Amino acid sequence: MPETGSTRLLDVRTEVDLGCALPVAAAVLRAGGLVAFPTETVYGLGANALDAAAVDRIFAAKGRPATNPVIVHVSEVEQAKALVAAWPAAADELAARFWPGPLTLVLPRVKAVPDVVTAGGPTVAVRVPAHPVALALLRQTGLPLAAPSANRSMRLSPTTAEHVLRDLGGRVDVVLDGGPTPGGIESTVIDVSGPPRLLRPGLIDVPALEAVVGPLARAMVTDGQPLPSPGLMARHYAPRTPLEAVADGLRRAAELHAAGLRVALVSHLGDVSVPSGVVVRAMPAEPAAYARALYAALHDLDRENLDRIVVALPPAGEEWLAVRDRLARAATPG
Ligand code: TXA
Ligand code: MG
Repeated sequence: MPETGSTRLLDVRTEVDLGCALPVAAAVLRAGGLVAFPTETVYGLGANALDAAAVDRIFAAKGRPATNPVIVHVSEVEQAKALVAAWPAAADELAARFWPGPLTLVLPRVKAVPDVVTAGGPTVAVRVPAHPVALALLRQTGLPLAAPSANRSMRLSPTTAEHVLRDLGGRVDVVLDGGPTPGGIESTVIDVSGPPRLLRPGLIDVPALEAVVGPLARAMVTDGQPLPSPGLMARHYAPRTPLEAVADGLRRAAELHAAGLRVALVSHLGDVSVPSGVVVRAMPAEPAAYARALYAALHDLDRENLDRIVVALPPAGEEWLAVRDRLARAATPG
């Protein structure tokens, strides 16, 4: 079995391998250990959500501030209801429409949910993931699994098992390798403990949500600016290499290159006439495909020893909201 530090990497890309790995992973989780697993969005770093000491280990492994609450993953609606003190009609409608899937609902919690999960707050975030490996793991353990993205705090979320190992190798007991995650960026988070409110744009877009619950309040100031959310810092989801996101990415990349910097240009515009020596990463021009490719592109470029990553900012507009949010968070302040 391949090992990285004390981390066991288990391939779960076939039914047979999944069948072998599940009992191992479930035993680790029941004993209070950490298992990273693929979801349809990004890889999660899972622990038994009802075991405060196990969830503490997630925070230690990630270097995550205790003020940032984590999402609890469950296998079905009934299991979510057991963790919350109220289940309003909006939750019912959203769960019926989008679960399993990349939508996280924030609701009043019950006492059985440990403080470390909610960062001491009165609400808990829950979702039923759509990935077959995540669902199989949830069913095998029968436990609700607290799982933030499986990266060091403030860094890029992982979309492959290799990304997880690079960031958390030796700090997690098991990594289940289910191949690249299909979604590429994180779930949409909405607070339904009161009138529905968007906390984090994500894979499910706002028009789809509004079609179910009507107008969504937004904590957002302007498009592309980070949203205020409990424990969520503006700088987040960031590569190590300083990153700028600007409308005219080609001009900016050329300027920095001319000044002697090693530069990459990430662009969906099919730019021609990029100066030779500028590393180019062509991105899809369609928002969902762009989202799927974004973190993988930034993870790759982060390994190239560049001085700067310049991203050509996609246009304003609802369909680009989640991508622009992540780029704003990835950008270096100043
Ligand atoms: O797609 C995803 O959501 C992935 C996969 C693994 O499920 N998870 C993920 O978790 O992105 P994380 O911890 O990286 O982000 C969780 C977000 C944070 O912005 C956190 O502040 C917010 O959800 N959150 C969690 N619990 C909350 C609560 N009770 N109230 C408000 N926001 C909450
Ligand atoms: Mg995260």
